[in-house]
Parts: sequence; C-alpha cells; structure tokens
Amino acid sequence: MTQDLRDAATAVRKNAHTPYSNFKVGAAIRGASGALYLGCNVENVAYPEGTCAEAGAIAAMVAAGETKLTEAYVIAGSPMPVTPCGGCRQKLAEFGAGEVVVTMATTGGAEQQMTLAELLPGAFGAAHIAG
Ligand code: THU
Repeated sequence: MTQDLRDAATAVRKNAHTPYSNFKVGAAIRGASGALYLGCNVENVAYPEGTCAEAGAIAAMVAAGETKLTEAYVIAGSPMPVTPCGGCRQKLAEFGAGEVVVTMATTGGAEQQMTLAELLPGAFGAAHIAG
C-alpha cells in the first residue's frame, strides 16, 4: 500500500527549499513500526551543503528512534520518475534490506518501482567490514 506514502511525500515536497535548482523533491519512508517519516530537499547557497529529500526522511526516522525501513517513496515534478542519487541509494541501503521497494514518481502520476538491491547492486555493506 503506497497511497499513504504518496500522499505524505507529495505534501512534504511543497516545503522543499530549492531557490537554486527549483527542483522540489519529497520523500516518505515507512519504518518497521509502520510510522512514516518525511523529508524534502534543502538547498544551500553553498551548493554542496544541500541535502536530498531521502536524507531528510532517513534523519527523521533515526531521530525518532527507528533504524529499519520497509518501504520508500520519492516524488518530483520531473518528466520521468525521479531516482535517488547514488549517495541516497547508499543511505537507504544502510537501513533497508535489498528487497525493500522504492517507488519513484512524478507529480503527473507516473510511478516506477525498484528494489534497493536493484538500485544499488553490489552494495558496500556491514559484512564487508566484519573482522
Ligand atoms: N534531489 C533529491 O532531493 N532527491 C533525489 O532523489 C534527486 C535529487 C535534489 C537535490 C537537489 O536539491 C535537487 O534535487 C536537484 O538535484
């Protein structure tokens, strides 16, 4: 069921701070408890200091005490469904299993679904640093 994620991501997207790109993104993730956590992109005049919507949602989840996500939804006013950037794929993989479905969407109604494993094949993970 992604409709609640879609509604939440669509609503939070409106708060995105994007004076430089004017490209607003909203993200919603579902924690293992069922609670939703939201984020939008927050740009900065020092361009590299901007943060992605997914990063904001993940930070909200962790701040609330959850460390597992079961579903993610990302939406933008793009011509095709917006895919998480490389850094955000790694951030999502930190808290989500490979089977977690990420729905990528446009405000026009298009949707595409991929798992985290598909988005980040060969992911660097905790197993790599196990001694
Ligand atoms: N952006 C996100 O917030 N999430 C994505 O999945 C793709 C890109 C943001 C970063 C920047 O503020 C703007 O979109 C343009 O790259």
